[in-house]
Amino acid sequence: MTDYSMLARQLEALLDTRDWLTNLSQTAAFIFHNVPELNWAGFYLHRQPQTLILGPFQGQPACNPIPFDQGVCGTAALSGETQRVEDVHAFPGHIACDAASRSELVVPLLVGDRMIGVLDLDSPLPGRFTADDQTGIEALCEVLIRTTSLTDIPGDNRD
Ligand code: SME
Repeated sequence: MTDYSMLARQLEALLDTRDWLTNLSQTAAFIFHNVPELNWAGFYLHRQPQTLILGPFQGQPACNPIPFDQGVCGTAALSGETQRVEDVHAFPGHIACDAASRSELVVPLLVGDRMIGVLDLDSPLPGRFTADDQTGIEALCEVLIRTTSLTDIPGDNRD
């Protein structure tokens, strides 16, 4: 089982600047290499109205842009709630960037009432993400939100 409290401490030590681009890049790489059985880990950012724009990530080149009314990422952005999808083929509107992906976890990044973007994790294994993974990954996002100036991310009339 992944030791998320150790990962949270390691991530906090890694994020030694408040710069958003540096910290999103470090976080994507850290999660991709420390959480087993992922084929993609990265960020989509709310930089245009009702639209997610691809940010720092690890894995195959990915779909861009993603409107809020599409995909697991759009659902997380619109609802402000984590989406834990055991079988992406059963999720209406799932966007298949990589046919190998079978399960997905998407955590919205909220700073106050501002939706900054989402962290998206994909796995080639069905049902890869448990409730414990969700809690652990949400805790890593809280470290990122606390340590990083996410409201500095440039955007175009976000709503
Ligand atoms: N599957 C996502 C799209 C992003 S990729 O997985 C990297 C979705 O349905 O929103």
